[in-house]
Amino acid sequence: MVPLKRRKVVSSSGAGSTGSTGRDDVTSATRFPQVVLFLLERKMGASRRAFLSQLGGKNGFQVEELFSERVTHVICENNSGEEVRRWLQSQAGSPAHLLDVSWFTESMRAGRPVEILDRHKLQEQQIKEVEVVAFSTPSYACQRRTTLDNHNAVLTDALSLLAENAELSDEDGRGVAFRRAAAVLKSLPEPVTGLTQLRGLPCLGGHTLRVIKDVLENGASSEVEATKQSERFKALKVLTGIFGVGVKTADQWIREGILSLHQLQDSERTLNRAQQAGLQHYEDLNQPVTRAEADAVAAVVEEAVASVLPGARMTLIGGFRRGKLTGHDVDFLITHPEEGREVGLMPKVVSWLDSQGFLLYQKTTRNSYLEAKDGPARPSSNMDRFERCFSVFKLPEEARRRAKEARGAAEETEPCSGPAAVSQVKGEGLKPWRAVRVDLVVSPISQFAFALLGWTGSKLFERELRRWAGHEKAMSLSSHALFDNKQSRYLRASSEEEIFAHLGLEYILPSERNA
Ligand code: CTP
Ligand code: MN
Ligand code: MN
Repeated sequence: MVPLKRRKVVSSSGAGSTGSTGRDDVTSATRFPQVVLFLLERKMGASRRAFLSQLGGKNGFQVEELFSERVTHVICENNSGEEVRRWLQSQAGSPAHLLDVSWFTESMRAGRPVEILDRHKLQEQQIKEVEVVAFSTPSYACQRRTTLDNHNAVLTDALSLLAENAELSDEDGRGVAFRRAAAVLKSLPEPVTGLTQLRGLPCLGGHTLRVIKDVLENGASSEVEATKQSERFKALKVLTGIFGVGVKTADQWIREGILSLHQLQDSERTLNRAQQAGLQHYEDLNQPVTRAEADAVAAVVEEAVASVLPGARMTLIGGFRRGKLTGHDVDFLITHPEEGREVGLMPKVVSWLDSQGFLLYQKTTRNSYLEAKDGPARPSSNMDRFERCFSVFKLPEEARRRAKEARGAAEETEPCSGPAAVSQVKGEGLKPWRAVRVDLVVSPISQFAFALLGWTGSKLFERELRRWAGHEKAMSLSSHALFDNKQSRYLRASSEEEIFAHLGLEYILPSERNA
């Protein structure tokens, strides 16, 4: 083998690299244009990979730093064919040779790509189950980066459905347990293939593991399938799908024999204002809101805010801030850089929107938050105290179209499939607007960072932040403030980063809070 020092001298002699290795320390010209290598770091390790890559380059092989469709030979060490194929499937597909490192070392010795023999090819069962990589992850969701690309959607969909069913059955504890388990699986870097990989992961109880086992072995969980089919679950979903109808009301109606919208309408039950609006706009409100529609709503709210209080600022929060492509509503946080100027802002915004015909329904609650000198009475007693407005927007087709165009002609034009198209199919004629749920929150600038963090979500991420604060740091976190119980004082912050720092957590981007 060439000693390290001499290799360095050779590589720095700079003959102008033509090998597209992505490594500037490899300089030999490409001698085998038909062969493009990619060395899989998994199990090989980064330093050995770097060394072998350099060796390949020196011998005139093209070694790619990143996997791409150009790659013809994938070189692996200690991986089974099955593992590598699974990994390849997650990459831009390519029918490359999957080879053991022995092919590489023999080629290096020969100074050319040697013929691929059977013994060079990756075997299916090269490794035993005990050697399968086990995953590990921190306990609290707020310690993890959970992006929207989930490698275990089949499992997390199953667990989320069970969580939803528990929540709809007023069993919040069970609901949270399933949500926590789903969040752990969402954060894994690869698909789970066997239960043994899950040993040592937090938040996975016996019930959850049974569900996962079922899905891994049979492709579906019998409990999930049975739940989906259950009349009660279906009715709870339909009824709580009405804006303004909570779990308790839905449960009461079901006990009275009301299982569908038709039965509800026929029952002539008195509905409150929110429920009336919910029933009236049921179809629209159960149609996911797109990012372009969120933009359209944002433009309207922006105009309202600017008209009634110049200098006030509006921020998109909730799921869209986390990068979601659709949502059940659109959430905004409004503030003013001068403390106190935000007082009375909400009624003005609401009446501007109303006068312009943008509101189908709204209910505003006043700010009832007061800071006590000795800290918050109960951990959650100061949640939800902002001046806020739950509303149903009337979003004109014209505004949707403009926002969609602004979002870029680059995005493919969708086929005729919006709610307007739905009502057209039903023969209701083309409705020139759609109803959209919109939440508005106003916060004073001194609480803005807490409000921003508290309203960006996800709900589980928020819950975990508060659990972390309470259990690990003896602090109380709300959307208004952070109180340190040991020091008996509030900890101020003007950015989300500062709050994470106060909590002793690494900063997590909004797009990584999709737990
Ligand atoms: N929130 C809250 N109090 C409520 C309702 C919501 O503090 N009574 C917070 C939630 O914790 C969440 C954020 O507001 O962080 C947004 O809630 P919501 O709109 O329900 O959820 P999204 O994450 O935006 O999901 P979706 O895209 O479905 O709207
Ligand atoms: Mn939302
Ligand atoms: Mn909301």
